[in-house]
Amino acid sequence: MTFDKKQFEEIIDAFTVTKEGLREVAADFRYDLRQGLKDPAQSSLRMLKSYIGLPTGDEQGEYLALDLGGTNVRVLRIRLDGEGRFKVLKKVAKPLRKEGAYDYIGKGSTATQMFDFLASLVDDAIDGERQETFLLGHTFSFPSEQSNLYNARLIVWTKEFATAGVEGEVVNDLLKAALHRRGIENVEPTAVINDTVAVLLAAAYEYGDTYIGSIYATGHNTCYLEPYAGKVEKPMILNLESGGFMKLVPNRFDAALDAASEKPGEQRLEKMASGRYMGELFGMALAELLGESKNYGFTSIDMSAILVDDTEPLETAKKIVASKTGHVLGADDLALAKRLARAILVRSARLVTASYVGIIWQLAGDGGIQKQHIAIDGSVYAKMPGAKECITATLSELLGEDAEKIDTTLAHDGSGLGAAIAAAISTK
Ligand code: GLC
Repeated sequence: MTFDKKQFEEIIDAFTVTKEGLREVAADFRYDLRQGLKDPAQSSLRMLKSYIGLPTGDEQGEYLALDLGGTNVRVLRIRLDGEGRFKVLKKVAKPLRKEGAYDYIGKGSTATQMFDFLASLVDDAIDGERQETFLLGHTFSFPSEQSNLYNARLIVWTKEFATAGVEGEVVNDLLKAALHRRGIENVEPTAVINDTVAVLLAAAYEYGDTYIGSIYATGHNTCYLEPYAGKVEKPMILNLESGGFMKLVPNRFDAALDAASEKPGEQRLEKMASGRYMGELFGMALAELLGESKNYGFTSIDMSAILVDDTEPLETAKKIVASKTGHVLGADDLALAKRLARAILVRSARLVTASYVGIIWQLAGDGGIQKQHIAIDGSVYAKMPGAKECITATLSELLGEDAEKIDTTLAHDGSGLGAAIAAAISTK
């Protein structure tokens, strides 16, 4: 099998965003931000209020942190020691879906099953303790409408979650009910935050100059501290749900992926950029080159393995492609497959960076760009070869010399730490 070179180049083109195109994305993102501040209905960004600002760094005490947002759910016991220091005392983690055993996120699963499972993990984290009181911070990484720090109602599932009976509900009420069913009366959920907010809180707890928090993983989303300059409102973190940003031009693979997804017509940026979908796009483009119409089930982990393969002639890539597609590719085609993986990752990182630049411009207003960190967590940022470098290069491309003022930092495990910080802030 030898790929048609013309067809291949055309596919690469379809995944390429030019510098001008990217500037437009950043400008459109900023436009939607401004519109969203006036009236979210006029913007593709949800701009959800979090009812929390930045921590002082002096928050202290022991808290439970529940982190629900990807395929793994985690419950941590964390001690905050102030001055940005903390210690994880206990960690319980389990997948929400285990092949052949259980599935709490697919079609047919229910809220009761899901939250009973969460309550059982909380029970593990407190070692069955029924006396001591624990305050619990909940990082719930889906679009939620909040009216205060506790009260978060799930608007709609994203990332292909399909558990029945959670959309439209106050998630911590579901959690409380499940804790009661299990006889746990000494755990009190007091705060719900998005994972982007958690990442921002975690980074700001450790060092200052951080106003933007982002997740670049299974899903993709960003939040920032809105200063409400000149307004009566106090500064507050807004969860943009930027995965829902729509002012992007989908190619035919994006369109087909969207049509086959749980929620067609939604989450355009996320479907073009996040880890949950990149592998699928790769598989769709490869299928076209192989003249087949199959879903091979590639993941972003497969893409990473292909991208780091430096052997001659790409032995790992060859094995992965053969196991997923049934085709044993020659050296030339393997090199092209690697180029395809790179093009999809580069487009993803460029679009994500353009959204950061939109926020940086908005925060700068008519003044200069401030020196700052952008806190990022997630498997794509931390693990996909070349992702971080591409973000740095794209910041320079869009911001020129000002890019030196922006430092992207990995806020590893920010979701858990952020939840504990939110629980601590809830007591103030
Ligand atoms: C999805 C969710 C969003 C979350 C992101 C990263 O985009 O809608 O709330 O922050 O995934 O987990």
